[in-house]
Amino acid sequence: MTVVERAVTEAGLPERTVHVLRGGGVALVLASRPDGLPEVLHWGRDTGPVAAADAADLVLAQDRAVSPSAYDAAWPLTLLPTEHDGWEGRPGIAGQVGGRPLVPVWHEAAVAGTDTELVVDAVSDELTLSIVLALDAAGVLRVRQTVTNTGVEDVELTALEAVLPVGERATEVLDLAGKWTRERTPQRRALTDGVHVRESRRGRTGHDAPTLTILGTTGFDDALGELWAVHPAWSADTVHRIDRLAEARTLLGAGELLRAGEVVLRPAEGFTAPETVFVWSDGGLDGLSARLHDSLRARPGHPVSPRPVVLNTWEAVYFRQELEPLLELARAAADVGVERFVLDDGWFTGRRSDTTSLGDWTVDAEVWPDGLGPLVDGVRALGMDFGLWFEPECVSPVSALAEAHPDWFLQDPDRARTWRHEYTLDFAHADVREHVLDRMSAVIEEHHVDFVKWDQNRDVVQTVHAGRVGLGAHTRGVYAVMDELRRRHPWLEIEACASGGARVDLGVLERTDRVWASDSNDAMERLAIQRWTELLLPPELIGSHVGPEVSHTTGRHLDLDFRMAVSLFGSAGIETDVTRCTAAERDRLREWTALYKRERGLLHSGRVHHVDLGDAGLATTVVVGADRDRALARVVRTETGPRALAVPLRFRGLDRRRRYRVAPVTGLRVPKGVDVTRTPWLERGSVELSGAVLEDLGVRLPSLAPGTALVLEAQAV
Ligand code: DGJ
Repeated sequence: MTVVERAVTEAGLPERTVHVLRGGGVALVLASRPDGLPEVLHWGRDTGPVAAADAADLVLAQDRAVSPSAYDAAWPLTLLPTEHDGWEGRPGIAGQVGGRPLVPVWHEAAVAGTDTELVVDAVSDELTLSIVLALDAAGVLRVRQTVTNTGVEDVELTALEAVLPVGERATEVLDLAGKWTRERTPQRRALTDGVHVRESRRGRTGHDAPTLTILGTTGFDDALGELWAVHPAWSADTVHRIDRLAEARTLLGAGELLRAGEVVLRPAEGFTAPETVFVWSDGGLDGLSARLHDSLRARPGHPVSPRPVVLNTWEAVYFRQELEPLLELARAAADVGVERFVLDDGWFTGRRSDTTSLGDWTVDAEVWPDGLGPLVDGVRALGMDFGLWFEPECVSPVSALAEAHPDWFLQDPDRARTWRHEYTLDFAHADVREHVLDRMSAVIEEHHVDFVKWDQNRDVVQTVHAGRVGLGAHTRGVYAVMDELRRRHPWLEIEACASGGARVDLGVLERTDRVWASDSNDAMERLAIQRWTELLLPPELIGSHVGPEVSHTTGRHLDLDFRMAVSLFGSAGIETDVTRCTAAERDRLREWTALYKRERGLLHSGRVHHVDLGDAGLATTVVVGADRDRALARVVRTETGPRALAVPLRFRGLDRRRRYRVAPVTGLRVPKGVDVTRTPWLERGSVELSGAVLEDLGVRLPSLAPGTALVLEAQAV
């Protein structure tokens, strides 16, 4: 921490001390005072260390002028603003104590830490507050806030949100929306005055989750513009908020959405809000994602083993589980290079459809008379890992568990609606957690299950259990079960799935190894879903499977090479009945899995660029290896282009001084219908050019038909 000891007392203001967090070219500059929370002077580009001699001038230069028709004295916009400070937007902390609005007056505050982590401790009449601000080497800032009731009355919290001021030059807002099979659809608008709150009340992250709320300078795009973004690392109800008031800097923030009565702190009780993640970049959306990807990749728990080629049985067999056909599927999968075989929904007692049996986590004796052993052994004998589907949080009303423990439901069946014929269990209840853990552990132990697909197929609403509003406590219980499962079975990997991609957030990703991005295996739809999931997550965390030729969700026909090209750029897999593939298709799948295995080191550690080629019908992704020796570029034609002349592919992120050989990758074909004789360099097979030429002029693309993709490699020579 750069603590500048020089106190600033001009203008009748109390003493202030400057604190600077620096990391990855980003800085957070705070001015603290002993009798209140610190003010954020700057969050953005690192302008270098603040010399002691400059501290007073820095503070003075940033001090607000007193505007007409305003409070008579200047007021600080603090880390947790309330009306006591002079702030008239949405408060950072709110609630009530003894029937009065909770507006804590922080009469003692201390700041301590290092140059990458600061802890702010403050005391009010009724609370203590701790704010931990940690800025990592990627420039990603994480904020964690805890309050504890130190008074004698109960304190009800209705908000504890983290906020930061952004640059006044931000004029546009981007966030995401969506629905089942169309998750993470971008929406963009002008930043206007007012308090803008986007609530998510779905009880899980949601298909339509904002994911990130991004404020940016005019016209920002994938590569250009200065951006400030926020993400709540939380898998249930959230608030994303922007306050743009005439008299203050624009605030951006987020937090857990708290329902009335949900957090009532008795004396000595505390509440820790989920972590809020803030990212700044001056390199457009890709620059923002680069910071997030680097930050996630630096976590101790980030998966480091090569991401295996998965075969998931869902779209291949749905609930039609039978040993012999599944062994045949496993043989076909192994034959094309699959490394992990995942048995999806339908293996447990009574589960023949989605109407019953959730909660009864014992192997169905009718479908599996000899247990799962013969399948698991068969899968392992073929050299593959074994994965298994669970939906641990949910319970079917028609199940042995529901009959035995009707009091374990989070929703009241007399009042609440089912969704996919299911309710939620109350994971705030220790007996529920223990039961689920024991049931899952028994199966995981018995078969040394390598991978659990942890599904969750309903919005979690009407969560009043035993007279208590239970969503936050339930969600913390879900996290606890995931954590304990991994503690008990250290080899285990978990995939976070929720009716496809309704649980994509950094809270669940603290304890899981990849997300299932969508139930849409239509590669054309998936392309956009994957692109916008990449805003937050690096490709190795995004499950993406080669689906059937005719998509089960859209009915669209797509060529195998196209489906493979889309899946290649994620955590790849197959979700179709490979036993029905022709020998030629199997050959192509085999070549593709070999390509994925060769390139996953690059794809899962490289920098991801989305390149606008000036043709709205083309979607282009370039992944460049960390040493910039090699890059892969995928150009997808989503719809016809505006011009007869095909545009050039311009690379991004190469070393401009080195020469690269550019050629189609081995393992995917140049699309059928491309007449290479019309694209001379493709007819020759490759070109060698400098990085500068490849970035500025590029290589002329052939004319691609909609629904086709070309994947090229650039190898330094
Ligand atoms: C929803 C998931 O997203 C699917 O992949 C599949 O696992 C089904 N649930 C199974 O019920």
